[in-house]
Amino acid sequence: MVSIAKLGIVSAATLAALAIGGVVFVGSGFYNIGADDHHTRIVLAIIEQLRERSIAVRARAINPPNLEDPTRIGAGAEHYAALCVDCHLAPGVTKSDIRAGLYPHPPNLAQEDIRDPQRAFWTVKHGIKMSAMPAWGKTLSDAAIWDVVAFLRQMPAMTPDTYQQLLEGHSG
Ligand code: HEC
Repeated sequence: MVSIAKLGIVSAATLAALAIGGVVFVGSGFYNIGADDHHTRIVLAIIEQLRERSIAVRARAINPPNLEDPTRIGAGAEHYAALCVDCHLAPGVTKSDIRAGLYPHPPNLAQEDIRDPQRAFWTVKHGIKMSAMPAWGKTLSDAAIWDVVAFLRQMPAMTPDTYQQLLEGHSG
C-alpha cells in the first residue's frame, strides 16, 4: 500500500521537475515570441481560457445604460472612426497596414455581433494584455466607452453609406 507520505514526496518531486523544466524551457529561448509566428495549440488554449474567464468574471457586475439612443450611437461612431478602425475595420473599410501584422489578429468588428455589451465595455475599458488591444479607459470616460459599445452593436447591420452618413451627421 502506498502511504500518504510517499504520495506527498512523489507529487512534490513531480512539481519540482515541472518547475525546473519550465525554467529551463523559458531560459533556452526556444519559444518564439515574434508576432509573425503563431502560438502552439496548447499555449493558445491556455491564453484563450485565461482571457475568457478573466473577462467573464469581471464583466458580470457591470450595468449597461440605454444603448439604443441615436445620439450615443453617433458619438460612438465618431470615436470608433478616430481610434479603432485601423485595427478593427468598418463598413467599407476592409484593410489597413497595421492590421496585417497584428497577432492575435483583431476581430473584424464590422462583421462580429456584440451579444454581450458588458463584456464589450470591460474589454474596451481595460484592454487585453499581450495583445495590441489598448485599455481605452486611460483615454475615454465611461460614458464615451458606452457610446462606442452602442455603436459596435449597430455596426454589423450598417452599409458603407449609412456608416459615412452617421459620421458626417455627427460632425456637421
Ligand atoms: C492597435 C490595434 C487595436 C486598436 C487600435 C483597438 N483594438 Fe480592439 N482589439 C485588438 C486586438 C488585437 C484584439 C484581440 C485581442 C485578443 O484576441 O486577445 C482586440 C479585441 C477587441 C474586442 C473584443 C472582441 C471580442 O470578440 O471579444 C473589442 C470589443 C474591441 N477590441 C474593441 C475596440 C474598440 C472599441 C477600439 C477603439 C476604441 C479598439 N478595440 C481599438 C486590437 C486593437
